[in-house]
Amino acid sequence: MRLKGKNIILGITGSIAAYKAAILLRLLIKEGASVQVVITSAGKEFITPVTLSALSGKPVVSEFFGANDGTWNSHVDLGLWADLMIIAPATASTIGKMANGIADNMLVTTYLSAKCPVFIAPAMDLDMFAHPSTQKNIETLKSFGNTIIEPGVGELASGLDGKGRMEEPAKITEFVVDSFTRKKKLQNKKFLVTAGPTFEKIDSVRFIGNYSSGKMGYAIAEELADKGAEVVLVSGPVSVTAKHPGINVIPVESAAEMFAGSTQQFPGCDGAIMSAAVADFTPLQPKNRKIKRGKENWQIELQPTKDIAAALGEAKTASQILVGFALETDDEIENARKKLQKKNLDFIVLNSLNEKGAGFRVDTNKITIIDRNNIQQNFELKSKKEVAADIVQKIIALFPAEL
Ligand code: C5P
Repeated sequence: MRLKGKNIILGITGSIAAYKAAILLRLLIKEGASVQVVITSAGKEFITPVTLSALSGKPVVSEFFGANDGTWNSHVDLGLWADLMIIAPATASTIGKMANGIADNMLVTTYLSAKCPVFIAPAMDLDMFAHPSTQKNIETLKSFGNTIIEPGVGELASGLDGKGRMEEPAKITEFVVDSFTRKKKLQNKKFLVTAGPTFEKIDSVRFIGNYSSGKMGYAIAEELADKGAEVVLVSGPVSVTAKHPGINVIPVESAAEMFAGSTQQFPGCDGAIMSAAVADFTPLQPKNRKIKRGKENWQIELQPTKDIAAALGEAKTASQILVGFALETDDEIENARKKLQKKNLDFIVLNSLNEKGAGFRVDTNKITIIDRNNIQQNFELKSKKEVAADIVQKIIALFPAEL
């Protein structure tokens, strides 16, 4: 009974593998889960609702309205009820609808309302699975934070052999159990993350900014949330978005707003990761109208901004951790060490502008971590997601007693 108390939506679509959904349903029920089946019209061509409602002990949901009495099936309530949604089998058509928000059936509307993790077990012919359209939709679903349970290779209903067989129900069940029981190492922890650039107003249409994309900070926020933490992400203007439901974004524009948001949030947090590229100077007297073009030189007087990391370093208690970044061109290690001391950081992540593929705007990064014990770890060039995992691993190691 490893799934006792868990509410699971099982979405079934029109594939021959729908018969395996009955076995999956049986296994989930045997493990103690409450399962609500949502089936598409095509799904019903392959397996009857009678079988599914008998196995689940609940009427099967398929249409927006009950056929006889006009009752409305609330996809919103269902989406909120569930601890997990599994779509097994998921056809190319349903995957496409989910990736593009085509909410023309109960299953896709439920998916769009679900706040829980979503697992998708594709089942289709090998060529359909390999088609760039299907692959693109699968990538889109992954980017939403959904988990794809990869289909297996073997004999397909078409008689062909290849990749497209829905994963076996017993394996899907193990995957589900594992997702609930895996210990989330940062459960009950809360972190503040700053990310992106700041924009410092010059006049009503101009600002001083920088090339930070926010990708590194957002990847760290996602990784912390994946490990079970609650994350407050104080973000400068960026085009990336936070996908994980555990992340609460506070959008800011200027260094002063980022300072205010961060200092307000920090006391309730177990730690902060300062990955924003905060402007060091801001115009002394920003204008509220547009400065007109002219022949004379234009001088803008700048004043220093407040150092957020240093302010948090001063405020921090013994149980809070603080992580900073350094982006240096000269004397990198020495300057990073100084910054670690000056800002009272637990460790500093150095990314060098001298390294190809590291720093602003790119999807990769090459970092060195230096901690208070002067231990220096050099990492390979990796994707920002992998770099985020390395940084979060180091954060987890700072809470040894409880984790
Ligand atoms: O001193 P420097 O700007 O190089 O330090 C970089 C580190 O300090 C980064 O972690 C950055 O997010 C943080 N910082 C800050 N507030 C500032 C300037 C930098 O939090 N005003």
